[in-house]
Amino acid sequence: MSAIRFDRRDDVLVLTLDVPGDAVNKLTTVLGEELSGAMAEIDRDPSVRACVIVSGKPDSFIVGADIEQFLEFRRELDAARASQAGQEVLNALAALRVPVVTAIHGACMGGGLELSLATTYRICTDHTKTLLAVPEVQLGLIPGMGGTQRLPRLIGLQAALDLMLTGRSVRARKALQLGLVDEMVHPAILLDVAVARARELADGTRRPARRGRGAGTTGLLLDTNFAGRAVVFRKARENVLVKTHGHFPAPLAALDAVHAGFERGMAEGLREEARRFGELAMTPVSRELIFLFFATTALKKDAGVEPPAPAAAPVRKLGVLGAGFMGAGIAGVAAQAGTIVRLKDTDPARVGRGLAAVRSVIGERLARRSITRQQFADQLLLVSGTTAYAGFGNADLVIEAVFEDLDLKHRVLREVEPAIRPDAVYASNTSTIPIGEIARAAARPERVLGMHFFSPVHRMPLLEVIVTAQTAKEAVVTAVDYGRALGKTVIVVHDGPGFYTTRTLSAYMNEAGMLLDENAAIEQVDRVLVEFGFPVGPITLLDEVGIDVGGKVGLVLSQAFGHRMTPSQALRRVVESGRTGRKGGSGFYRYDKHGKKGTVDPTVYALIGEGRQRMPMPAGEMVERCTLAMVNEAAHCLQEGILRSPRDGDIGAVFGIGFPPFRGGPFRYIDSLGIDEVVRRLEDLHARFAPRFEPAALLLDMARARRRFYPAEGRPV
Ligand code: NAI
Repeated sequence: MSAIRFDRRDDVLVLTLDVPGDAVNKLTTVLGEELSGAMAEIDRDPSVRACVIVSGKPDSFIVGADIEQFLEFRRELDAARASQAGQEVLNALAALRVPVVTAIHGACMGGGLELSLATTYRICTDHTKTLLAVPEVQLGLIPGMGGTQRLPRLIGLQAALDLMLTGRSVRARKALQLGLVDEMVHPAILLDVAVARARELADGTRRPARRGRGAGTTGLLLDTNFAGRAVVFRKARENVLVKTHGHFPAPLAALDAVHAGFERGMAEGLREEARRFGELAMTPVSRELIFLFFATTALKKDAGVEPPAPAAAPVRKLGVLGAGFMGAGIAGVAAQAGTIVRLKDTDPARVGRGLAAVRSVIGERLARRSITRQQFADQLLLVSGTTAYAGFGNADLVIEAVFEDLDLKHRVLREVEPAIRPDAVYASNTSTIPIGEIARAAARPERVLGMHFFSPVHRMPLLEVIVTAQTAKEAVVTAVDYGRALGKTVIVVHDGPGFYTTRTLSAYMNEAGMLLDENAAIEQVDRVLVEFGFPVGPITLLDEVGIDVGGKVGLVLSQAFGHRMTPSQALRRVVESGRTGRKGGSGFYRYDKHGKKGTVDPTVYALIGEGRQRMPMPAGEMVERCTLAMVNEAAHCLQEGILRSPRDGDIGAVFGIGFPPFRGGPFRYIDSLGIDEVVRRLEDLHARFAPRFEPAALLLDMARARRRFYPAEGRPV
C-alpha cells in the first residue's frame, strides 16, 4: 500500500499524502522514499508541468516526523544521518524542474512545515484547525530537514527565531501575515486554487512571493547587515539563557545552525543542522521530553477507569458553586469550551465580581486575538450568575469551589443535592480535603468525586480527578472526558489527604521551610531550586499560593502523615503572623501595590529566625533534600495506590507542580539517578533528619530486585 496517490489534472500532477493505517500523516523514512520516487517520476515525464502536494487526511496535513523512529537512534551519527537523508529529499524537492505548490489544511508541523518550505508556493485554509509550527524544541530537538535554513530565508530572521525557539504554532491568518504561506483560502476551494496556482507558476503568469516579505523593512535590513544580525543573535541567545537557565540545549543549537547558514552559506548551515540534530537526539533532555510526549499521548487514550469503561455523559451545562478565584476561573474555561454555566455565590456582589473575573479570563483570549469579538460575546453569554440554586436542575455536572472548610463543604453539598438531577456528577475542587470525607454528607456518594484544578485555571494544564472507593465508573469517565474537553491533561488518582499533587508538593515545600529553620537564606533556597529547573523557587511559590493556604494544607497533611509532614517552624510562625503572601501584599518577599514581587522582606527574618545570622548552605544539599522529599513522597503515593501508574505521577508533577520537564518527572528522575543511589541518599538523609526521609518501602523493594519504573530502552510507555 502506497502512502502517495497520483492524480493528473491535465498538466498538473497532484500528490495526495495518505499514509495507510494511520489517522494522520507522519514523515517517515518510507514516506521520504516514496516522495523521492514521485520526484523521479516527475523528472521522467515531460508532460508534467507543475505539481501540488496535498493531504488525504481529513483535518491535518503532516503532523511531523514519526517520533518513534527517534528512539531507534543509538549514536549521534545515526540521528545526524537521518537528518541528512531528510534534507536530501527536501533539497531535491526544492530543485525539482517544475514548480510545486503545497496545499495545507489542518496541522502542518515540524517536518511537514519543512517540506512546504522546500516548495515554490504555499496555500493554507482559513480553518481553525490549520496550525503551522516547528515544535521540535519542545522535544529537545531542532528542525532537522532544512528548517533552520529555509525558515529564516523565507520569513526573516526574527520571526523565524521566534517560531523555532519557542516551538509555538501559528494560525492561518498569522502565517499569511508572516509570509509563511502565500495565500489563504476556504477549505472547499483549496485544491482547485492550488492547481490553478501551480499552472500559473508554470506559465510564468505568477511569481512566488518575494522572500522575507513578512519581515518588514527593518527586519530585512537587520538580516542583510552583518552587525544587525549579530545583535539579533546575541539578544536571542541572552533571552534563551534567561528563560531556560541553560537547561535546554536545543534553542541554542538552533541559533548556531541558523547562524552558520547566514554566515557560511546554506550548505554549511545544513551540515551544522544535521550535526546538531544528531547531538541533541542523544541528550537525556530530549529523551525525557520525548517520554513526556508519549506519556501525554497515552494518557489521552486512558478513560481513567479499569476497562471496560462506560461511555462518558455529555456535559452541556455546568453548575459552579463559589464565584471566587477558582470558581470564576473554572466558569471561564467552561464557557470557552462551549458549556452553559450557572455560577452561584452567597451574595450579588460576589457573584458580580465572579462574573467580572470570568469576563477577564475570556477577554485574555480576545486580547491575544485567538477569538473574535463575536466569539467573545457568545462565550460570555453562556455564563450567568445566581445566589440560589435556580438553574441547577438541568446541570450535568456541578463543581464546588467554596472556601476550604469541611463543614461548609458539607453544608453546600447537602443543599445542592436535592436541587440537581440524581445522575448529575458532583465534583469538589478542594486541594487537600479527602473526597471521601466530603462525600460523607452526600445522599449519592457514588456521584461524588474531586476535580482539582490548578491556579490560574485558564493557564495551568493539569486536572487531577480524585475518585473514592464509592465513586461510580460512569462519574469518573464523565469528569475525565469533560476535563479533556476543557483542554486539560487529566490524571485520575485515588483519594487520600492531599491526593497526589498537593501531597508531594507539600513534602517539597516543607523541606524548603526546614532549610529556613536551619538558617538558610530565603533567596538562596529559591535560587538553587530554580537552577535545578523548577519555574519558581518553593518560598516564592508559597507566597503565590498563599501562606494561609499553605498553613491549612500543612495542618491536614501533618495530621494524616505524622512527623514526616510536620510543618517547619518558619512556616508556622509566618502563618501565625497573618501574612498571606502576594495576595495580601506581604509575605516572605515584598510586593508593590500591583502585586509585583520585589526583594526578600528582611522583617520576615525577625519572625522566623529570632535574629540569627543566615548561613550559606551547600546548594547540592538543599536541592537534594527538597527534591528527594518530593520524590520519596511520590513513591509513597504509588505504593499506597493513590497513583495508578508512575506515568501519571510524572505527568502530574511536571504539569501540575512544576517538576522540571527535562528531568521527566519524579519516577523518571529516580530511574535516571539509579534506584540504588536514590535509596542510599535517602538513607543518609534519614540518618540525619529522622523521621523524615525514610525511604518508601516500594523503593527498597525495587532496589533489592534491581527494578526500574520504565524500560531502559525503546518506547517508554
Ligand atoms: P475564594 O475565597 O477565592 O472563593 C471562595 C468563594 O466561595 C467565595 O466567593 C465565597 O463567597 C464562596 N462561597 C462561600 N460559601 C458559599 C456558599 N455557601 N455557596 C456559594 N459560594 C460560597 O477561594 P478559592 O481560592 O477560589 O478556593 C476555592 C476552593 O478551591 C477551595 O477549596 C480551595 O482549596 C480550592 N483550590 C484553590 C486553589 C488556589 O490556588 N486558590 C487551587 C486549587 C484548589
